[in-house]
Amino acid sequence: MKFVLLIYFSLIFIGVSQSYKSKESSIADGREIYNDFCIRCHLSDGKGTPGEIPPLAKSDYLLNDVDRSIYAIKYGLKGKITVNSREYDGVMENQGLDNDEIADVMNYILNSWGNSYSELITDDKVDKIKK
Ligand code: HEC
Repeated sequence: MKFVLLIYFSLIFIGVSQSYKSKESSIADGREIYNDFCIRCHLSDGKGTPGEIPPLAKSDYLLNDVDRSIYAIKYGLKGKITVNSREYDGVMENQGLDNDEIADVMNYILNSWGNSYSELITDDKVDKIKK
């Protein structure tokens, strides 16, 4: 019985510690995801390629509507958008990331290259954004 309780409380502890991942560790994990999945297009300085790949650094599109960008990373994005007064009409496939990975990469891009965003994006928030 004691053993069962021990397992039970360990699982609760693991669950709790995961949902309270610190912003710093989420950003650190997000950097790795960015380097694996996003850097080839949006580049290491987050500036993209003007006219082809939109910037994430100081992007009004990203910073003014976080839910819309979570949606784009989760489900993909295509068609005309305007980022920092410049039009883009490209395609970004969904990158096949899990909700917690999307949360981490969002925390990374929202707090890099001069961007800053006080709220922590959680996998719960990503989960709530549906098609
Ligand atoms: C194959 C190239 C490619 C990859 C890989 C890619 N993107 Fe994109 N991304 C684009 C393009 C192109 C658009 C604009 C799509 C459009 O014009 O509708 C875009 C748009 C965006 C936007 C919204 C516009 C902006 O600049 O604020 C965000 C946020 C974004 N990408 C984040 C990411 C993240 C995070 C990853 C990695 C998980 C990623 N992208 C991977 C090409 C890419």
